[in-house]
Amino acid sequence: MITVRAPATSANLGSGFDVFGVALDRPADFVRVSRAEETTIEVTGAGAQYIPEDPKKNTVGAVAEALDAPAHIEIDKGVRPASGLGSSAASAAGAALALNELYDRGLSRSALVPIAGEGEAVVSGEAHVDNVAPALLGGFTVAVEGDVHAVDASVPLVACLPEIAVSTRDARRVVPETAAMDDVVHTVGRAATLTMGMCRDDPDLVGEGMHDTVVTPARADLITGYDGVREAALDAGATGVTVSGAGPSVLAACHPGDRRRIGATMLEAFAEEGVTGRVYQTEIGRGAEVV
Ligand code: HSE
Repeated sequence: MITVRAPATSANLGSGFDVFGVALDRPADFVRVSRAEETTIEVTGAGAQYIPEDPKKNTVGAVAEALDAPAHIEIDKGVRPASGLGSSAASAAGAALALNELYDRGLSRSALVPIAGEGEAVVSGEAHVDNVAPALLGGFTVAVEGDVHAVDASVPLVACLPEIAVSTRDARRVVPETAAMDDVVHTVGRAATLTMGMCRDDPDLVGEGMHDTVVTPARADLITGYDGVREAALDAGATGVTVSGAGPSVLAACHPGDRRRIGATMLEAFAEEGVTGRVYQTEIGRGAEVV
């Protein structure tokens, strides 16, 4: 039996739609696997009632099939589904690492990224790897046309998860099909700034680099209270704020020591719109690990 702790992740970071991702120090899923004749799945924990246990409909079923590694797979969800915190990616990455170990497949973490990505496709309809890459490799990742680049980074973050459900499928429908050249130039500049910030562990550059005028404004409309929460977090000292993944979580970059204040402020701003939620005071963390 193998147990893996697989972290939540935040994709896009504003300017890096479908490209950037970070592993979060918390929350996390735990995935336990044991050999079996055929794959069966058992899900407990946060939002378990919304997650199908049929291997054909669950992200980890596709991973087991891709690795030719039938198993009884127990998933203890710490990352709520439809949160924008890479819930299905955490399970897929955890299962990929655990089954690779259980069956001695000998695949590297990088080689497991596209396999876990196939699992993602089961729930979101497309195999994008901007969540599974950081869930497996840790740190800050850049996924580009089949390649993934990863670098360790250390930046304090606050993830505020409102009690709203936004499915990745719905959030992808509102993404504009085209962008004006001004917006493209703006986004490239911000993405480059963010990358430099990650390489320097600089929360100011990372926050500045999160600003995006293409995808985030379209998605903000799906999150009740987003603009107020963003303003409140910036006023409380956040260096940048954006939608985490497809939402509804809102991610803030900040300086050490500011997380508690920023998190409380974000919750208050959601509450003003009648939305309850919870906050994770977190930071960029490691990839999935056998525990
Ligand atoms: N990059 C993806 C999106 C992440 O924003 O739609 C969610 O899986």
